Amino acid sequence: MRPDALNGVCPYYTMYPLNFPLRVLKEHGKRGDWVIDPFCGRGTTNFAARLLGLPSIGVDSSPVAVALAKAKLVSAEPAQVVASAKTILKAAKEPTSFPSGEFWRLAFHERTLTRLCQLREALLDECSTSTRILLRAIILGALHGPRPKRAPSYFSNQSPRTFAPKPNYAVKFWAARGMRPDDVDVLSIIKTRAERYLAEPLPDVEGKVDLGDSRVAETFSDTPKARFVVTSPPYYGMRTYLPDQWLRFWFLGGPDFVEYSQPEGQLKHSSSAFFATEMGRVWKNLASRMTLGARLVIRYGGINDRAVEPMDVLKESLVDSGWRIVTTRSAPDSDRGRRQVRQFLSKPKKAITEYDVYCHLA
Ligand SMILES: C[S@@+](CC[C@H](N)C(=O)[O-])C[C@H]1O[C@@H](n2cnc3c(N)ncnc32)[C@H](O)[C@@H]1O
Repeated sequence: MRPDALNGVCPYYTMYPLNFPLRVLKEHGKRGDWVIDPFCGRGTTNFAARLLGLPSIGVDSSPVAVALAKAKLVSAEPAQVVASAKTILKAAKEPTSFPSGEFWRLAFHERTLTRLCQLREALLDECSTSTRILLRAIILGALHGPRPKRAPSYFSNQSPRTFAPKPNYAVKFWAARGMRPDDVDVLSIIKTRAERYLAEPLPDVEGKVDLGDSRVAETFSDTPKARFVVTSPPYYGMRTYLPDQWLRFWFLGGPDFVEYSQPEGQLKHSSSAFFATEMGRVWKNLASRMTLGARLVIRYGGINDRAVEPMDVLKESLVDSGWRIVTTRSAPDSDRGRRQVRQFLSKPKKAITEYDVYCHLA
């Protein structure tokens, strides 16, 4: 078992490889340095900080990201997580809400969906303990994905794992192939995953993850002064964080259908200049929360449907932000085909290089 197993508890598209924040913090971090990620996604930076014994803060405006990132900072034994799921299911009554329609009928077996609804309602009611936070992340990771030849490891009918299937497309896909959802053993999937992701004890390190908007200065008002920001903001044009995670969002209390409108709290992509201004607000907010000698390290790239040079957008966002660029390098991991954008394009077009940009407080 690897000590980094927990980082893989659930995919989050546009996640960056653990190696990136690990490398930065290993090279420059010292005991006691606080680390902030204002766009923390699934909490890769927070997890890297934890592995190195550094305290950290994560902020994201997506509830899915926050549920996953919180799990990166807590500990529980696999048996505790399984016992917690068993207790919930044993005590559960008929779920009060049960999604209906063709998509739900084909996505999950009725018995599986009943259990998922029961777990959902119990975790919506109370999810403050480490055990429940980990149980929730494990369920999110198992919610949808491919059907393996061996024992099932996801609850759903055949689906992508990184992003949720779109209902109309999925129904056509399943119907055309006669694919019916399996009656899977929910507890056994949870047990296998708990044993996989929680096998290695991890250090207990201070830190927290908040649901919040990093453009708002108050979001950081009670964070300790930090020495590092290691982060990756949304790439300009990439605006589908919640719609593409709609099933996981449903499990966290969201609607049982896809909502395409741009949610509050996400950077607005109306023009590259506006986007740069919004991103700049985040850099400014952070500049006032840092210790002397602080560093900001940003991984940034682009998506193919925007005729804008990503580095121009990022450079513009850093003007008058309190930060000064000292080094820019092309991201080593992107050369190995592990680019964030690949996670959600089935046939990626020609890759746009990603950059790691190192800044000092001006
Ligand atoms: C590129 S992803 C970060 C991925 C992360 N590095 C990881 O490894 O999982 C960018 C994140 O920024 C979040 N985000 C967008 N606008 C935000 C805002 N105004 N405040 C906080 N988070 C925001 C999105 O929800 C998304 O999770």
